[in-house]
Amino acid sequence: MRVIRSIPEMRAALAEARRDPACRIGLAPTMGCLHEGHASLIRELRRRGCLTVVSLFVNPTQFGPSEDFSRYPRPFDADCRLCDQEGAAFVFAPDAAAMYPPGSDTVFVEETALSRGLCGASRPGHFRGVATVVTKLFQIVQPHVAVFGRKDAQQACVLERVTAGLNMPVEIVVCPIVREPDGLALSSRNRYLTPEERIQARCLVEALREAAARVKRGERQAAGLVAAMEACLRARPLARPDYLAVVDARTLEPVPEAGPSTLVALAVRVGGTRLIDNLWINEAGEPIL
Ligand code: PAJ
Repeated sequence: MRVIRSIPEMRAALAEARRDPACRIGLAPTMGCLHEGHASLIRELRRRGCLTVVSLFVNPTQFGPSEDFSRYPRPFDADCRLCDQEGAAFVFAPDAAAMYPPGSDTVFVEETALSRGLCGASRPGHFRGVATVVTKLFQIVQPHVAVFGRKDAQQACVLERVTAGLNMPVEIVVCPIVREPDGLALSSRNRYLTPEERIQARCLVEALREAAARVKRGERQAAGLVAAMEACLRARPLARPDYLAVVDARTLEPVPEAGPSTLVALAVRVGGTRLIDNLWINEAGEPIL
């Protein structure tokens, strides 16, 4: 595995690889602090036979002024080891000055519909930062395939729209959520939790399991599902909900009833840490946690 920090070097290495017409390049964009969720994305690219690039870049433009950019964990050596073990060909870890050259602060990629609600409402500018950096990564790596996790369902939805809207020839693959044994979705931010907060953070998946059980029993009303989830969260005093929503999984618009292709999504602050999770009701009407 090669660790590459410069953009020209990344381009040159991939130009070389592309000389083999059978070569398919796969990109897993990450901010590092890798865990099993990220590993599952790398494995998906390997399963598809891709030459795999993992980007490690804590993207400053997607963090709000009071968010955790400076304290976001950066265990670079451990991240490289994980990428190597999972069979990545390249780690691409550019620095911010190269990704954002002088003058680039007036240049953005922005999706203006799907980005507005849910996390977009409490994190203004977040999805603009994500769309911009992922477009830059796509320009540099020019992958055939890029993988994203359904844990960040809104992000995946926005990026699918951006890719299609800008005619980018990149196949977007969205992978299942990887969870801890107790159900908590893996997240780099879980390491901010104190032991007591970690226990109470189970409330996200508890609430979604409650919603899933109700959907399986035939309950459809969004208001009833939200009320049931709120009750689960109230049982955990350190949890403060940011939003609970039942939306169309493609448009992210609120729907009165859950049915096929619905997303039940929530964001909850546990102590000082904001966590997100979701339940996807697939096209066949099956709830997928
Ligand atoms: P990051 O939070 O590092 O996540 C990188 C990718 O891993 C995202 O696609 C995310 O959805 C996926 N992921 C995280 N936790 C997961 C889990 N428990 N199960 C499955 N997949 C999981 O998301 C970002 O970085 C950034 O916004 C980025 C897209 C890299 C742009 O800066």
